[in-house]
Amino acid sequence: MSAIERSLDGKRILLIIGGGIAAYKSLDLIRRLRERGASVRPVLTAAGKQFVTALSVASLAGASVHEDLFSLTEEADMGHIELSRAADLIVVAPATADLLARAANGLANDLASTLLLATDKKVLMAPAMNLRMWLHPATCRNVMQLQSDGVLFAGPADGEMACGEFGPGRMVEPIDIIEAIESAIGSDTAILLPGAPLAGRKIVITSGPTHEPIDPVRYIANRSSGRQGHAIAKAAMRAGAKVVLISGPVSISDPAGVETIHVETAQEMLEAVRAHLPADIYVGAAAVADWRVENAGEQKIKKSPSGGPLLQFSENPDILAHVAKAGKSRPALVVGFAAETQNVIAYAQDKLGRKKCDLIVANDVSAEMGVMGGTQNSVHLVSALGVESWDRLDKEEVARRLVTVFADLLEKGGR
Ligand code: C5P
Repeated sequence: MSAIERSLDGKRILLIIGGGIAAYKSLDLIRRLRERGASVRPVLTAAGKQFVTALSVASLAGASVHEDLFSLTEEADMGHIELSRAADLIVVAPATADLLARAANGLANDLASTLLLATDKKVLMAPAMNLRMWLHPATCRNVMQLQSDGVLFAGPADGEMACGEFGPGRMVEPIDIIEAIESAIGSDTAILLPGAPLAGRKIVITSGPTHEPIDPVRYIANRSSGRQGHAIAKAAMRAGAKVVLISGPVSISDPAGVETIHVETAQEMLEAVRAHLPADIYVGAAAVADWRVENAGEQKIKKSPSGGPLLQFSENPDILAHVAKAGKSRPALVVGFAAETQNVIAYAQDKLGRKKCDLIVANDVSAEMGVMGGTQNSVHLVSALGVESWDRLDKEEVARRLVTVFADLLEKGGR
């Protein structure tokens, strides 16, 4: 296993754990924060205690858990005002609808809400609730209020919820909260891979899905989370490269210190890529939609007794092939991804030739692998040199290793 970088070394996190089924993920969050060098002071709400115990929180945090607003021992030790300020960042995970509502309205009727009102530090919330609660106008109002008060948000994500429904409201994964924390306060931009192997190089990376509109409110998308592409952007930056990340719509944060351009459709992604060439390296990690809807409605398409709408599709531009065949402005190293559910290596070899790229990073995204949207990846590197298969690794570690491979290939003259 690889060593975790101490990207949050010396940072003090006050972690408020609210009452939601996602509270169990906060235990993992504590572990990951400490691995990265942060210290964690935990606060458990009364509802949070229904989901995780103070003992497990304290054991993982290596610090006692604060629970009461009116604890005389704590007030003698450290008052709630001091507690709220002796931190670099306050993280609320899970942030329940109730906690959001109280924070948005400045209530101070328990320790957690009092800390949020008394602090002069940044606050990051990772909401978790049923999708109807998340979509309720009251919660929307509260989130808008909190955002305009400067509160940062990580997620929520779309997905299957503990209650069995599917939609937005799921707490994002601990690794995504870590990303958001690093963006908010991290010092990770300063950490370079040994020897800064990409110093002086420019790399353009696409990441995430594209959304292809059906009408102004509906779109076609895919399950790409953007995690692998974003991790490569971060690793390349740490390796000293100038990085431009072109991201489709994702629920993860922009990597701290990386120039990130947000796009929705494949055509917008192509325009953004074109605008940022030339570069030394191009990495197409985005899951670009193959088709767009030719007859997308200008207004919301209404239900009709004669059946559903007939959508006509036209093919999207192949951004990777476009870059690889860009003549003089072709980057020295063009890298594609191939997400397949079968015949992974054979399809990747075919893509390598057809799209004229130098390296294909192929992975199996069949449902049982849990790669799409997950935090791990097991990849095969397919190039003119042959096939190299790596064990299953965290996407961050895959990214770090890929960056070293890119540096080696560039050294050898790219193609
Ligand atoms: O979808 P496909 O398997 O062909 O994708 C392989 C590679 O091609 C990926 O790197 C993806 O980013 C890229 N691609 C692209 N534009 C498309 C389709 C795929 O750049 N329209």
